[in-house]
Amino acid sequence: MTGSVRLLFFAGSSRAGSFNKKLARLGAMIAEANGIHATLADLGDYPMPIYNGDLERAEGQPENAYKFKALMEAHTGIFIASPEYNASITPLLKNTIDWVSHVRDGDAPAGDVYKTRVFALGSASPGGMGGLRSLTTVRQVLELGLGALVLPDQFAVPRANDAFGEDGHLKNKDSQENFKALIQKLARAAHVLHG
Ligand SMILES: Cc1cc2nc3c(=O)[nH]c(=O)nc-3n(C[C@H](O)[C@H](O)[C@H](O)COP(=O)(O)O)c2cc1C
Repeated sequence: MTGSVRLLFFAGSSRAGSFNKKLARLGAMIAEANGIHATLADLGDYPMPIYNGDLERAEGQPENAYKFKALMEAHTGIFIASPEYNASITPLLKNTIDWVSHVRDGDAPAGDVYKTRVFALGSASPGGMGGLRSLTTVRQVLELGLGALVLPDQFAVPRANDAFGEDGHLKNKDSQENFKALIQKLARAAHVLHG
């Protein structure tokens, strides 16, 4: 079933030592280990200015918004590891989602890429709640704002500064298994949607 499934993993942080990048990387590792094609992306490789309507009218959407949208389109399921900033989403993640939602290429309506992929969410934080509250916002943006299908299951890594082993896996075996189950569920959902 996993032959045609392609999963994209990225984090809402471009920080070099980002715990959410570690989570996205682990997700890609788990997918590959289970025979699922996975791509790991870094939003730091797709810098975009803060959205501004005047800038958009004058210059159009940034080239990196087109590039990132194309990357999303090349995958059937997308996992986002979202850091929590003041109980919400990071500016980097929101700005990326916003710009991509305005890219119009071909005949497809703007924002179509969100309606045609399946998403799964995770978070990691040094705090005790693992950044879980940010996922409420990410879910709202994707589901209510953009009509995306987001799996009800989600995953959080509390105390993230001590959660990952040298090999990039989670030290807590139950957590590792729960995360693996989420990735497998994302792959199954992507298969059902896209074959
Ligand atoms: C502006 C700001 C606000 C933050 N607010 C929260 C918060 O509400 N809850 C939380 O668990 N961590 C919060 N943190 C700590 C982040 O979880 C921590 O910096 C984390 O490492 C960021 O994710 P990253 O490691 O993927 O870059 C905040 C950090 C910043 C910079």
